[in-house]
Amino acid sequence: MNYLRIVGKGPLAGEITVQGSKNAALPILAGCLVGEGTCLIENCPRIRDVEDTLFILNRLGVRTKRSGTAVSVDASGIENISVCGPQAERIRSSVLFLGALLGRMGEVLIPLPGGCAIGSRPIDLHLEVMEALGARVFVEKERIHACASNLRGCRVRLRVPSVGATENGILAAVCADGETVIENAAREPEVEELCRFLVLRGAKILRTPDGTLHIWGKQPLSSTCFSLQPDRIVAGTYLCAAACCGGQIRIRNLPFREMEVPIEILRTMGLGVDFDGNIRAELPLKGMLQLTTGPYPGFPTDLQPLLLAALCTARGQSEIHETVFDNRFMTARQLRRMGAHIEVRGNRAAITGVAFLHGETVFAPDLRGGAALVCAALGAKGETVLGGYEYIARGYENICRDLKSLGADINLTEGVTDI
Ligand code: EPZ
Repeated sequence: MNYLRIVGKGPLAGEITVQGSKNAALPILAGCLVGEGTCLIENCPRIRDVEDTLFILNRLGVRTKRSGTAVSVDASGIENISVCGPQAERIRSSVLFLGALLGRMGEVLIPLPGGCAIGSRPIDLHLEVMEALGARVFVEKERIHACASNLRGCRVRLRVPSVGATENGILAAVCADGETVIENAAREPEVEELCRFLVLRGAKILRTPDGTLHIWGKQPLSSTCFSLQPDRIVAGTYLCAAACCGGQIRIRNLPFREMEVPIEILRTMGLGVDFDGNIRAELPLKGMLQLTTGPYPGFPTDLQPLLLAALCTARGQSEIHETVFDNRFMTARQLRRMGAHIEVRGNRAAITGVAFLHGETVFAPDLRGGAALVCAALGAKGETVLGGYEYIARGYENICRDLKSLGADINLTEGVTDI
């Protein structure tokens, strides 16, 4: 296990540029499969989930090549329909090969997907959409086998606006005969980016004002070059880092428009954020928040652990109500070990701000929980040893590089620690 050593040393200062969006890169890399030709994906982050996805593509017989932050994907020939293997089993986004390969090849084998243990994370909605499009789906012991001689457009309504199920539906529908209508579709910016990428290739996709998606399948799809937007969750992570330890920083490519709600919440806490990405944090910030997470454009569940960390040393009592996942307060236990006053009851957390947290040996429970503990450690008194860096590396290109450039004392140590 690799681990981080972080010494809290006060306010941050400096400028950074945020990596490309993980949660846009993953569906778009799967989207390279729905048509022949070569796609160039620029600003594609060097993170483990992307590297796992490229490995899966290679095993399918797809040629990929990374040069710098650009990745080329040549999906002219696919030699395999099975996505199984350790790389696919450990990432949630391997489920997105269901729609893409069913659409392109008419058959697919995928493992039951992995991903962060932040809740039950079923895939029933994904399977419902595939069956609505005419696929036969067989749930075997540890994998899903789906086949369809010809996908037919359909009208389907999602019980919840699932990001992944929406993306899977889009990927299959672009290969289906006729029109597919997805009601209660997810509206996250990453879903919009997938649609923009597919439309650039020649797909016909329209979203009506009520959020319903209309996809007309079987359009000729060509090669394309597409540049990913900055990662709004990584940008939000660094906003919360400033909220935890103070300072004045600038995020050169802050995706402001996609972050209006979290930015507004942080502004009510006293964090200064402007359109150019200038961030000013004078501690202590103000707590006394009643916050509920929700689907876009609500407060993103992925920033909930980061805000939880920032509220630990904000003045007053706050409450967070997590409505998207059913087990996403695992970071609270590690924060309590650092001196935080957090009480978790079901899907609600009550936080009472304290003056300081103290350095401790803690363990990342998942990707965003690990990033939240990094933020808390930046503002804590003393040294923190954080195990489970592998989780953080799934979504952050180089959190040490980014935070060091803002003046933080953070180092990655290879090896085993008895955390
Ligand atoms: C995506 O996960 C993101 N991952 C998650 O980011 C993010 O937290 C989540 O969307 C919500 O915004 C990627 O894009 C790779 P969902 P996804 O389907 O698609 C329930 C990160 O840290 N549900 O929108 O798996 C589900 O249990 C990760 O970057 C069903 O009931 O999320 C959850 O309660 C963590 N049945 C809710 O919907 C289904 O078939 C939202 O899940 C699918 C989902």
